[in-house]
Amino acid sequence: MQKLELSPDLFFSNLRTVNRDLCKDAMLGLVHRYDLSGKNVLSLGAGEAFEESWFYNSDCTLTLNDINLSFTPAVCQGSGLTFYHGDAGAALVDIPDGRYDLLYVSSFHPDEIRRETIQADFVAQQTEDQAAHYVTWPDDELPYSETLNDALAKIRDGGLVIFQHYRGGVCVDTNPHYIDEIEKQFQSAGVQLLEVYTFRRSTPHLLVVGYKGDASHALEFSKSLQARPEIKTFHGRYGDKEISTDVVKVFELASEHIRPRKVFPPPPTAHAEPQPTPPAASAGIVERLRSLFRR
Ligand SMILES: C[S@@+](CC[C@H](N)C(=O)[O-])C[C@H]1O[C@@H](n2cnc3c(N)ncnc32)[C@H](O)[C@@H]1O
Repeated sequence: MQKLELSPDLFFSNLRTVNRDLCKDAMLGLVHRYDLSGKNVLSLGAGEAFEESWFYNSDCTLTLNDINLSFTPAVCQGSGLTFYHGDAGAALVDIPDGRYDLLYVSSFHPDEIRRETIQADFVAQQTEDQAAHYVTWPDDELPYSETLNDALAKIRDGGLVIFQHYRGGVCVDTNPHYIDEIEKQFQSAGVQLLEVYTFRRSTPHLLVVGYKGDASHALEFSKSLQARPEIKTFHGRYGDKEISTDVVKVFELASEHIRPRKVFPPPPTAHAEPQPTPPAASAGIVERLRSLFRR
């Protein structure tokens, strides 16, 4: 693991502008809703940091990590941006606890692949009823890998976590219990689940937001968000703008009616008469997951 001190201007000067521009509305939407200007941000698996560049534009101080280098350290040397080159888990050993206003993670490969594998294993042995209802997430399984769980310790009290998932996601319309599992895992790390968003027509795409601190402060913060600009899009590089701007909030801490089971109630006939399963039930589910992850 290598810790690099870089000039953010030099680091961001080589970014591919197309990707950066595609992320603009989504990232500034986060900045405006969660008041992120000027904050101290830690991002793991940041890749080329197209998204994080908008935090920098909003006067944030960045600490980034990736196992691969997409830039030449020698030409970016300077100060103002810390980059941990190496495995995120190893970087976390060096990164102090309780320091960051925001932990931002967008599609961290090892975590997304873990979720994908858990679902593939589950659908291979699910019951007919689970297959008929597209249940792909097992009960009592931790939504997040050890690395992301450990990363929650890096957030200061009153700080936020934002996880964006665009691979290996869990369809929250058919797996509402998955949100309960996130809530539980977050709570065991001192984080309260604040909000969850998905695309109405592609429900494994998720934006998950949490608050580090006790439940009463999180509730106050959640209420304060009701006066802030709404999230209108996320995952700016998603290929179909019609889908990525049709965002639905499926969890809001302060609004008990915003819960996945209420936003996506099961169809009235689903319990009485489950839909006939495709010829090979689990193959059908795997195919559905694959087609969603491919986007
Ligand atoms: C799908 S990309 C996401 C990049 C960026 N966050 C985004 O949203 O475009 C996944 C990133 O995880 C990085 N990665 C994979 N394994 C990692 C590890 N063990 N530690 C740190 N980064 C890792 C990859 O190099 C890649 O940049």
